[in-house]
Amino acid sequence: MKSYKIAVIPGDGTGPEVIAEGIKVLNTVAGRFGFNLEYTGFDFGGDRYLRTGEILPASALDELRLFDAIYLGAIGHPDVKPGILEKGILLELRFKLDQYINLRPIKLYPGVDCPLKGKGPDDIDLVVVRENSEGLYAGAGGTLKKGTPDEVAIQESINTRKGVERCLRYAFEYTQKRNKRKNLTLCGKTNVLTFAFDLWERTFKEIAPEYPDVKTDYAHVDAITMWFVKNPEWFDVVVTDNMFGDIITDLGAMIQGGMGIAAGGNINPAGVSMFEPIGGSAPKYKGQNVINPLAAISAGGMMLEHLGQADAARAVEAAVMEVTGKHIKSLAAGKMGMGTKEVGDLTAKLASSISV
Ligand code: IPM
Ligand code: MN
Repeated sequence: MKSYKIAVIPGDGTGPEVIAEGIKVLNTVAGRFGFNLEYTGFDFGGDRYLRTGEILPASALDELRLFDAIYLGAIGHPDVKPGILEKGILLELRFKLDQYINLRPIKLYPGVDCPLKGKGPDDIDLVVVRENSEGLYAGAGGTLKKGTPDEVAIQESINTRKGVERCLRYAFEYTQKRNKRKNLTLCGKTNVLTFAFDLWERTFKEIAPEYPDVKTDYAHVDAITMWFVKNPEWFDVVVTDNMFGDIITDLGAMIQGGMGIAAGGNINPAGVSMFEPIGGSAPKYKGQNVINPLAAISAGGMMLEHLGQADAARAVEAAVMEVTGKHIKSLAAGKMGMGTKEVGDLTAKLASSISV
């Protein structure tokens, strides 16, 4: 039987609760489709940091490289200054494991309240491919005369030909594989950021002929925030840099019904990838059995897809859609009409037999 080694980082706040439900569903479909998942837990997160002073042990990266995938709950602790854990764990893993793609499906599931008037599941089904290793996130820059009236702060966006091209090629190939409208939109700011997005646009145009079945277009990032609200049905796959991707995927999460459902993958096509619900650790809901586990369950589904278990991934998504469409009242924490564990149980039960 095919077996996969999964590193599990439940993390902070409600992370452990939602990951537990995700594992429930993953195990069910593993049984159904005949493969095995072998989990190893890692306690990285705020509690460990507060206890030991260590953010990420030196051995962590080498250990994690030995796994087939990483399943992450949430990072962020109310007693730790914002930025320390995010940079020290989440961004560190993304960068050091060279997970250069952040893949964010934005799909409105049946029964989910959409804040856009007149839009339904047929209108909102797109994927953002966010560059995940460069740009403003690279940490280039510095300060001078800090704390004085003459202070200077410089934060530079790093864009390399190699980094841009590998991201664009991934997006083209993903658009082909997704096989929906085969439309890839480059999202940038070529009218102002004339160095960075000149590189993106030139590379995009240069490689596009290698993917003749993919239609291409371009939108400025400010315009895209407008179109995501006004005409989300225009989009199939959108590719963009790290910072713009961060911003437009939060907007995307809102039009698909909120953080309770939004999942993402940090992908290194040649290495170990990491899958996470993108909603954060929501510490105020910790331990109350009220948080929505569907985003974590969906992230687990993305992980299965990545591992090559496409039928199992489809069963997870179909079960999630059944839950949103017929069973839960709302995606919001405490308003689902059932508890975290009950949503997990129900999704697992549906995934065990739903047709795919
Ligand atoms: C995300 C998050 C992270 C990011 C934070 C927590 C560092 O917002 O995954 O989108 O900015 O990438
Ligand atoms: Mn973000």
